[in-house]
Formats: sequence, C-alpha cells, structure tokens
Amino acid sequence: MSLEAFISKLDQLQAAATEALAAAANREALEAARIEFLGAKSGQLKAAQKQLGTVAGPDKPAAGKKFNAAKMAIEQAFDAAQTRLESAPPTSKDGALFDITLPGEPIRIGRRHPVTQTIAELKDIMGRLGFTAVDGPEVEDEYHNFEALNIPEIHPARDPLDNFYLAAAEQQHASASPLLLRSQTSTVQIRVMEETQPPVRIISLGRVYRPDQPDATHYPMFHQMEGLYIDKQVTMADLKSVLRLFATSYLGRDVHVRFRPSFFPFTEPSVEVDMSWGDRWIEFGGAGMVDPHVLKAVGYDPEEVTGFAFGLGVERLCMRRHHITDIRYLFANDVRFLRQF
Ligand code: DAH
Repeated sequence: MSLEAFISKLDQLQAAATEALAAAANREALEAARIEFLGAKSGQLKAAQKQLGTVAGPDKPAAGKKFNAAKMAIEQAFDAAQTRLESAPPTSKDGALFDITLPGEPIRIGRRHPVTQTIAELKDIMGRLGFTAVDGPEVEDEYHNFEALNIPEIHPARDPLDNFYLAAAEQQHASASPLLLRSQTSTVQIRVMEETQPPVRIISLGRVYRPDQPDATHYPMFHQMEGLYIDKQVTMADLKSVLRLFATSYLGRDVHVRFRPSFFPFTEPSVEVDMSWGDRWIEFGGAGMVDPHVLKAVGYDPEEVTGFAFGLGVERLCMRRHHITDIRYLFANDVRFLRQF
C-alpha cells in the first residue's frame, strides 16, 4: 500500500470513528462504537495497523506517525464521549430524558399473614396469664393423637376417613404406632406431661388436619390453641376465669363466656366454650377438667394433682375479630385480601 493511500484511509477511519463516538446516545451505543473502532481483536484500527506492514520501507516512519496520531485522536474522542455520557442527565432505557424529581414507584413491603399475627397476639395474651408456649410435631402417632387421650380404638374419631393417615410406605415400621397428621393439638398435652412434672402451665399453637370439604367455616388444615394447666387443686372456676380473661383481652370487654355441657374422652367434666356479643353466641372450642385416665397415662397421680385443658380454633378467633366471613379467604393467598391486615 502506498503512503498516500494509507494516510487517506486513516483520515477516513478517524472521521468515521469520531463521528460515531460523538453520536453515541447511551452507554450501549458507546460500547458498540468502541468495539467497532478500538476493539483489540477485530476493530478497524487494528486492521489498519496490519496494513501498516504493507507500506514500503522508507515510508514506514511517516505511516507509523500517522497511525499513532489517528489512534490518539480516536481514543480522545472515546474519552470525551464517555465523560459526556457520565455527566448527562438521567435517561430511561430508550434514551429519553426523565424528571428525577418525580415520585418513584411505591415499594410494597410484605407483612405477616393474619393467622401468624393472631398466633403472636394469642401467645402474648396467654403469656401474661403465665402460660408458656410450646410446640409439638404435626406428624403424630396414634398413641399421642388418640390412645393417651383416652380415645379407644373403636371410637369414631379414629376412623381413617376422618383423619389423614400417612401412606403405608411412610410409616416408620410395621410394629410402631401408625402415623397421621395430627387432628388436634391435644397431642401436645401428652408430650409435655410425659417430659415434665407438675405444675404445668402451657399453651401450644399450631396446625391440625382433618379431611373436611372446604366451605365458609371448614378447611382441611386449620390452627388450634391448646391450653393445659396442671397443679394442686386446679378447678373449673380457674378454667372459666382464664378463658374469660383471655376472651376479654383478645375480643374486648363486652364479651361473655358460656360453658355448655359436652363430652370429650380426655376431660371429665367436659364443656363447649361459647363467646357472645349482644345476643349472638359462637362456639370457639372445647375444654374441661383433665380426665384421671389421661393423668395416669403420663404417670401423674390424679389424687395429687388436677388440671384443666382447652382447645380453641385460631381461625375462628381471627375471623371474629376482623369480621372475616369465609375461612377460605385466609388461605387463598390473594394479596388484595392479605394486604388489609
Ligand atoms: N381437641 C378438641 C378438638 O379438637 C378440643 C378440646 C376439647 C381440647 C377439650 C381440649 C379439651 O384440651 O379439654 O375438638
């Protein structure tokens, strides 16, 4: 290549490069132009450098000088373009200007599920009444879910159709007590009494499972708050005082608590617990004095200690408090609903 041709080629290259760099409207365009002209592998400047070798020997110094001058000019154009873009007012993706004083997109902060909030509040109230919160397993054996609670083999509550028994393959081994998803938190009463000596004053809040068809008041999974108080000379009057204190703390001073005679295998006597506003009574769960059979099953002496127990529906309390009309709203995961709590 002749010196003249080389010089004119570099003039063209420099003109095209400075124009493209000056025109780059954003970082992406600038980077594309950099690769096109200054790219180390296949940039146009690199190609020109190779042609330098074809210029005749005596002309080489002049050609090299020209090459260096063009390279420096293009690099300076690149630096200038970069400085220009960095100090430019902010633009959106398509390069349009935008007003940084406009309010931003609101950030939505998550919140705790209403049932989780309810559980925290119930723990707080019962904690102030001296009850410690404990947990128990959701996968239980028949012994803790039924047997130790004085629910015999022939009792209808043990019907496989009314419980979520685990499939045979998931059972531990053939001789062990069969496993199921617990149908009530009363299981935790047994687990706590097996491990501690009286006095006992605990609550346990957690999930329970029953194969119910979902409707406004039923769901195959829900939560219960279990309470257990064992000591010398605990009476039914203590039970009613505690539940009344609990009810007024959670639902308000104008709430009334009523006991209706009932039957549970693990309490004697047993009651259903109703609460009312005005003339409307709503059932919240069951309660009673712990049956001597249950105390004996965990090695307590029923002549020495007595106690009360209760089990209340957490969703029911939450729904009553917040005027929620259908339990299914709680588990539909619709943020329009959940955002309200
Ligand atoms: N476990 C009962 C149920 O799920 C509720 C219950 C009744 C719990 C009486 C108790 C109790 O602790 O004493 O229906």
